[in-house]
Amino acid sequence: MAKGKSIFTRAVHAGERGPQPDFKPVSTPIYSTVGFLYEDLEDLDAIFGNNREGYVYTRYGNPTNTALEEALATLEEGEAALTFGSGMAAVHASLLAAGVKAGASLISAYDVYGATYSICARLFPDLGVQVHFVDVTNLEGLAKTFSATKPKAMILETISNPLMKVPDIPTITKLAHQVGAKVIVDNTFATPVLFQPIKHGVDFCVHSTTKYIGGHGDVLGGAIVTSKANRSILHEIIKMTGGNLGPTEAWLTLRGLKTLPLRMRQHCLNAMEVAQWLEGHPRIVRVNYPGLASHPQHELAKRLFPRGFFGGMISFEVKDAGKEEVFRFMEALELILPATTLGDVYSLTLYPAMSSHRALSAQERAKVGISNNLVRLSVGIEEVSDIIEDLERALEKIS
Ligand SMILES: Cc1ncc(COP(=O)(O)O)c(C=O)c1O
Repeated sequence: MAKGKSIFTRAVHAGERGPQPDFKPVSTPIYSTVGFLYEDLEDLDAIFGNNREGYVYTRYGNPTNTALEEALATLEEGEAALTFGSGMAAVHASLLAAGVKAGASLISAYDVYGATYSICARLFPDLGVQVHFVDVTNLEGLAKTFSATKPKAMILETISNPLMKVPDIPTITKLAHQVGAKVIVDNTFATPVLFQPIKHGVDFCVHSTTKYIGGHGDVLGGAIVTSKANRSILHEIIKMTGGNLGPTEAWLTLRGLKTLPLRMRQHCLNAMEVAQWLEGHPRIVRVNYPGLASHPQHELAKRLFPRGFFGGMISFEVKDAGKEEVFRFMEALELILPATTLGDVYSLTLYPAMSSHRALSAQERAKVGISNNLVRLSVGIEEVSDIIEDLERALEKIS
């Protein structure tokens, strides 16, 4: 097409839009294109009108994202999935798709990721939503809140950030459905390797794919696994609001996902050993890890997570410590990085009061149970003895 034209025209068009190949690439390429062409404009018209499947514009869908969405739906054993530019974009879209709007009520777990808490405590109430916070481990109280408030939806986490509470999701889902409420579960900490919310009736399974699914700390993203019908609602929302995951990020995430089960196995084995070691250390007063017999929902966790894995996330309280001692401890760590994320191959530590839960007031944090001596640890896949040695040395430094 560009042959015989001016160099200005040839530079723009040469080499593009070659014939359809007769081979299949083994791994999904990055479809780094915004628009898609069809021989016949009728096809474009049909796709815009939702009368046939296809791609028209990357905010509406992109083949690299579709590959990731299919993989996520398969892992979570859901019908369909939609990817987002971040976990928070996915959380926000799930609330909208669940029908949360002005005049409606919403139930949220107290103990959720800080930005999710802020959406529920500030953003949505400002838009006229009545939000009720609950302790998800108190099923009696929760049942009363459901019947008193008749919410449109409830949002909670499989393993909560940062206190590692484990709610009885199958029972909570039944209670919610009895009053017609949709259930949104953020499965970021558990991943489908531990627990598959959709199999327990949950309506929207949300992920920050930035964490375990991507797994390497190099790509931000989010996803929702749900029914085909709910995906159509979410698709209409993303077409209007954007917040899409770029195809390059989708490709990186798909690449990370392939080793999710292998990585999770190592995260979980390491975390169990680290949690047991921390529990026996004189400088540690409390360890929150669902795999420990001392965890208040240990029996429930054993039932919900049949593989016998309890995740890679631990939080613990340092004895006689406040912000200053915790900072000295975190700075003394050499292998474990004080980075504001989790679920990477690297071991990472974080001070929730400073970062993930900073937007909460001191009173809100106290109410949730996030104390000033609480440290969160994302146990990586390094050799576990090296992780423990690092912790031991840093704890010695503050003793
Ligand atoms: C449980 C949980 N959900 C959602 C998010 C938000 O994810 P993102 O940073 O990808 O927006 C986080 C972030 O730490 C998280 O821990």
